[in-house]
This record gives sequence, structure tokens and C-alpha cells, in this order.
Amino acid sequence: MRTIIEPFWIKSVESLKWISVEQRDALLKEAGYNLFQLRASDVLLDLLTDSGTSAMSTEQWAAVMRGDESYAGSESFFRLKRRVQSLTGFSHVIPTHQGRAAERILFSVLCKPEHIVPNNTHFDTTRANIEFTGARAVDLPIAEASDTQSRLPFKGNLDVNALEQLIEREGAKRVPLVLVTVTNNSGGGQPVSMANIRAVREVTRKHGIPLYLDACRFAENAWFIKQREPGYSEKTAEEIAREMFSLADGCTFSAKKDAFANIGGFLCTNDDLLAEKETNLLILTEGFPTYGGLAGRDLDAIAVGLEEVLQHEYLEYRIASTAYLGRHIAEGGVPIVEPPGGHAIYIDAELMLEHIPKNEFPGQALAIELFRHAGVRSVEIGSVMFGGAARHELLRLAIPRRVYTQSHIDYLVEAILEVNERKHKLRGVKIVEEPPFLRHFTARFQPLA
Ligand code: F0G
Repeated sequence: MRTIIEPFWIKSVESLKWISVEQRDALLKEAGYNLFQLRASDVLLDLLTDSGTSAMSTEQWAAVMRGDESYAGSESFFRLKRRVQSLTGFSHVIPTHQGRAAERILFSVLCKPEHIVPNNTHFDTTRANIEFTGARAVDLPIAEASDTQSRLPFKGNLDVNALEQLIEREGAKRVPLVLVTVTNNSGGGQPVSMANIRAVREVTRKHGIPLYLDACRFAENAWFIKQREPGYSEKTAEEIAREMFSLADGCTFSAKKDAFANIGGFLCTNDDLLAEKETNLLILTEGFPTYGGLAGRDLDAIAVGLEEVLQHEYLEYRIASTAYLGRHIAEGGVPIVEPPGGHAIYIDAELMLEHIPKNEFPGQALAIELFRHAGVRSVEIGSVMFGGAARHELLRLAIPRRVYTQSHIDYLVEAILEVNERKHKLRGVKIVEEPPFLRHFTARFQPLA
């Protein structure tokens, strides 16, 4: 059989709520045309993020019931630790309430002002946590990634020559670690090849610099390696993931993505001294080292999720369904970041809405219209989010894991193509109110006439 089906059946459902275009018009006005300010119950399909929005499995819910809520030495922690160690090979596993808590702890220990931290592309919380220590976060994506239309199998790769040059120019002492984000979220959800991780490993080893994976979407990345990188088609996703982790000295992880958990994360390292410092910081704000800001039940849900996410049928369906959305809207004439990534499709709003200049926020205009027209919530990743530093004006449609079926995606395709048909009628927006930082969450907009 060639048809790829959702590899699950549905046991518990929640009804969607329909409201009229007129009602959505009123809600948009009230929300200052900022989709973060909407109530989730007014959204029909919520593609704001794939983070923390997964449907958990019956096995995960069963594990939740097994959760050991002891303050110290919880069995749930040892179950999680065993699973993380067998997958990553790292000796220390430090649970945190989510990915950014792992980032904050890692960078607080390793980074100082004058330091530079390279990455293929930093996610916004990663960048913010590095810069909070006074260090500088530098993106080193490969040059070809700047063209949204170029089709490369591993468009998320880090530019290894640029990394070498940076280390030689600045001196290895100023680079406390190098990060590689798999998959490259801010770069369009594009994968990183094993060869690239290995090449980065060689450079960092030569200079004595630790290499960390920002491993949020490690399973999706492993699947792309299996599909696209010579020599990996016969390996399982688990084997490929193990190899990816074996090249690094540690990782940060948000269990809200590739562990199907609604909350959670962890920080791993092989360095005993570092682990001790990190654990001390953990106790200060997150909690005792065997729960790190989570309930025992969360630790168990993550441990099970880390098994399920590497199942062949799941990953095959996951990547195929993202590609299905991308292919159908691209064939209908909507420019997307090519090729489709793992967890999301990114529309190039600057290319789609050529008549709306950057300073009138084409991505935001499109996000507003997609909600108004069809009740779909997406997120602008462009000048609203990054100001003048934005390289592109993108609209991200992130797909929650195991939540929507193919007919939901068909509805989404139809909605996007309908908006595309009358795209010339769309107008830009202006910002009328904004906070001093992370403005995309609370800014208020006004449509331009
Ligand atoms: N790193 C990457 C690559 C991420 O995508 C995220 C979160 C984090 C770190 C932080 O993890 O949310 O658990 O603290 N990304 C979400 C998103 C929020 O919508 O892309 P967290």
C-alpha cells in the first residue's frame, strides 16, 4: 500500500467551535490585530506553534498515572534518565520545566560578556538567553539558505567555513560553546545533515570548544537524514538520533516538541564539573535535581514520548503530512520556503504580497487575513518579530503533533488558496502600540486603508 495514513486512531475528542467572519472581524479589532491576544477557543485551527500542543497517547496518559511525586529520588526521574541516556549517551540529565530553562542554566554557567556563541540559527529564546549574559549570539546558516526558493536537502546546515573563520578571528577562548539547532526552526524547519554535524564537531574538537545540540526536533531531523543522506536509508531513526547525539558534548531539549509532552525539557552534558554548577543553579529556581520544575507525571510522559516519536510509521506520516500541505499550496501558486520542513510550512509573504512593503508587515497582514477568512491562527516570523534584523517576511504554519487529520489540512489548503486568489486586495498594517522588547506578543496593529 502506498497511502500513508495517520498512524493512530482517536479515543478522546474535543469539538471545534465555529464563529462567523463578522465575529472574527470584531475579535480581531478587540485584539489589536495581534493573534497572540485572541482566546484560543475562538480559533478553529490553531497553527501558532507545534510546542506543547501535541496530543498525548494512551501510553503517555497511563504513564502519567504512574508518576511518582516524591520530592527527592522519584522513580519517574530514573525512568526518564534511563530513556534519555539510552538515546543520547550523555552522562548527566538535568530536567527543566521547558527548553528555555535549560538554555538559561547552560548559558549562565558558560557565557560571559565578550563571548560569542555561534549556531546555524538561534531560536529567539536561545538568542535572548545568550544576550542576557552579555555574550553575543551569532547565526551562521549556509549562504544558500538565504534564498527561500532554493531546494537543498539540508538547508538547515551551519556554514563550517564561516565558523572556522570566526574562531580564528576572535580566538577560541571567546567561544564558550557552539550550538547546532536540529531542525533549524528559525531557518524554516530545515534539517541538518550528519556530515554537517560531524564537520562542526571536527572544528570544535580542534579548538577545544564544546558542541551542543539544540535538540527540540531531533527525531524529525533524524528522519530527514534517513530519507536524504547517503548511507542512512537502512538505519532506524533511533540509530541515527544516537549518532547525532554521539557527536555532541551535550544538549538542550524542549520536550514540548519531539517528546509529545505538554510541558518539560532537559539539559544534558558529559562534563561532571559543569553538571555540578548547573545542578546548583537548577535548585535555585527550577527545583530539586530529580524533578527540575516538573511533576513526576510529566517526567514519565516525556520518557514515553521519547520512545514513540522515533517510530517509523509516526515519522513517515509526520513528514509526509507537512510536505502535503506545502506541496498543495505551492502548486496553487503560493511561495513557500522550499523544500517543506519538518514541523511547519513557512509562506514567503514578501514574495506573495509584493505590493505590501516590508515596513507594512506583509506576514502580519497575511496572518490577520487567514484568521479573518478561515479561523486559522498562524504566526508572523519577520519584521514584527525581529524588527530590522529580519531576513525574510515569513508566515509560519506550525503543525501540532497528532492533533489534526488530513481533512483539516485540506481545509487549510483551500483557505490559503482562496486568500491567495484575492491577495491584491490585502493591505498592510501599522504598529500603533508596542512594548520595549519581544513586541510580537503584545503589540497592537491597525490595518492601513
Ligand atoms: N529552541 C528551539 C529551536 C525552539 O523552537 C524552541 C521553542 C526553544 C528552543 C525553546 O523551548 O519553548 O520549551 O522554552 N520553540 C517554540 C516555537 C516556542 O513556537 O517554535 P521552550
